[in-house]
Amino acid sequence: MDSVMRQGSTLAWGGSMPFRRIPIASLRQDTVPPFDLYLQTLEEQPPVLYRERNLPVTASVLSTLTDQHHEYVFLATSQDSEYLRYVEKNLDSVLSDEGVPVAKRSQVLYSCAQGLVSQVLDEPRSRELIERSRDLVAATTKFLAGEQAAFAHLLKLVSYDYYTYTHSVNVFVFSVTLAQRVGFTDPQLLREFGEGVLLHDIGKSMIDPSITNCTGKLSDEQWKSMKMHPVHGYEILSEHGTLTGMALDVVRHHHEKIRGGGYPDNLKGKQIAPLVRISTIADIFDALTTRRSYKSALPTFDALRIMRDEILKDLDDDYFRAFVSMMGNPGG
Ligand SMILES: [Fe+2]
Ligand SMILES: [Fe+2]
Repeated sequence: MDSVMRQGSTLAWGGSMPFRRIPIASLRQDTVPPFDLYLQTLEEQPPVLYRERNLPVTASVLSTLTDQHHEYVFLATSQDSEYLRYVEKNLDSVLSDEGVPVAKRSQVLYSCAQGLVSQVLDEPRSRELIERSRDLVAATTKFLAGEQAAFAHLLKLVSYDYYTYTHSVNVFVFSVTLAQRVGFTDPQLLREFGEGVLLHDIGKSMIDPSITNCTGKLSDEQWKSMKMHPVHGYEILSEHGTLTGMALDVVRHHHEKIRGGGYPDNLKGKQIAPLVRISTIADIFDALTTRRSYKSALPTFDALRIMRDEILKDLDDDYFRAFVSMMGNPGG
């Protein structure tokens, strides 16, 4: 993978360097962004430099942008990494800022999470990136618990194109919200669960890309290798030594089935922890509702119908019912 911020396509104007739009809400007052800010002053024209990096964002900068009705500023994509670190550092402050609409806060979060997970998948052994993911999970679970409307807004942002990093973020958002709605309220446990879900497919980074990107049917040998991703993920994260048993349980067991026959450990029934069962439902739903080169994305209703008719026996039916009702009423 070559880019840090995947969310939102890049924009270029005949020969200009590529830019992306970043929401004003991600710029925090009295911080010093380590990236240049550009503004588009004329339609159809490339953005022009507005403020150089390492200059503070003051109250007057923010009020000028607001007075001029700018919703976005522009970032040169060559400074994606700097922007990502800046947003992560300020994420808690953005997400708890009641002066910013929940829709905008959700946008900052979704894009930041995608950027970070994409980096983690590029460098799964980086301790620093795992620590940054944990901070992001902590800020997100607090946001989802405190803002009833957050899930509905995040749902509108969900990417329907399948990449492991978008899938990871989607499954994380679905899983943590469902866990909260069925009564898991302990913030510590939710954080640990969230860390596992966000990184549940990290083991795919160890599988040959010719297999993970395969558009046709996998051979028996390839499928055998693919089914090792929960074990690879478990091993990578165990080596880091910072994740708990709950997080590791999700990473290793999100492909187990209630009646047995799943992988890698062929667990059954109560051997599969309740939160792990939640992650399995979210994982399958996201796989069905996203587009891949060899299949189209199913609409929500069709995906839920297929899950009910064809695989409910493999799932926890109480949590599946709760998932259906969450998707029917995302605003809670
Ligand atoms: Fe998986
Ligand atoms: Fe997955």
